[in-house]
Amino acid sequence: MAVRAARLQGRQTGIVPTMGALHEGHVSLIERARVECGFVVATIFVNPTQFGPNEDFTKYPRTLDADLQMCEAAGADLVFTPSASDMYGQHAQTFVRVTKLSESLEGAHRPGHFDGVSTVVAKLFNIAEPDRAYFGQKDFQQQLIIRRMVSDLDFPIEIITCPIVREADGLAMSSRNRYLTPEERATATELSQTLKMAQKLAAETQLSAAEISQRMQQRLSGTPGIELSYALIADPETLEPLEDRQVTAVALIAARIGKTRLIDNEILQFR
Ligand code: PAF
Repeated sequence: MAVRAARLQGRQTGIVPTMGALHEGHVSLIERARVECGFVVATIFVNPTQFGPNEDFTKYPRTLDADLQMCEAAGADLVFTPSASDMYGQHAQTFVRVTKLSESLEGAHRPGHFDGVSTVVAKLFNIAEPDRAYFGQKDFQQQLIIRRMVSDLDFPIEIITCPIVREADGLAMSSRNRYLTPEERATATELSQTLKMAQKLAAETQLSAAEISQRMQQRLSGTPGIELSYALIADPETLEPLEDRQVTAVALIAARIGKTRLIDNEILQFR
């Protein structure tokens, strides 16, 4: 009703879907939506269907009061905070699955994760009927999957991917960073350092994408405290691993540090 009232006043709606535990990365999305849209909706919902049975659903940080203050300060007009029963009726049976893009990388390590993401995002889009939706580049595969879904299912929504916001030492902001012990937090900077190394090798050498991927893997698997899931250079549209150099690529990393799984990425420009 609120969105429709805004639309009747001629305002366009921007949505920023989140799971709460907000940080400066989320704030940057809301602020961007504020600049580009007349009405800004943030959503906060820790979506159970995107967590695996052994993942951190129950201990995922829930900081609603602080989140609401941050949403307001960043310029949100409305914050939608549904419960699990609001979102999923007892008899729900329908899933949205983006097939190929959901199978590799995070999808391979977290079976069913992206089905949960695409389904809840489709539902949020249907509920809020936004004109634009804002996602962070940190979840690179997620934003690609949502773009595919929007195109395949003809949602009349423009997807806007916003740059990764980093801590001063390069660590990509994430709600899960708060799980890290001080020692793990120090180790975690290796992820962004490795991406920087990949960027430099792409720009300043003639190494192939496969060779740079190999150097990323060597560096991370040789770092004590890091359990590497994957580190590779891929095509930014298909996520297929690249052998050769191409003008634009994406370097992607996922690793476990202690009990915390972290992901990070960087767009690479080859000379
Ligand atoms: O990126 C997230 O926080 C979640 O995956 C999203 C898009 C809000 C869906 O639950």
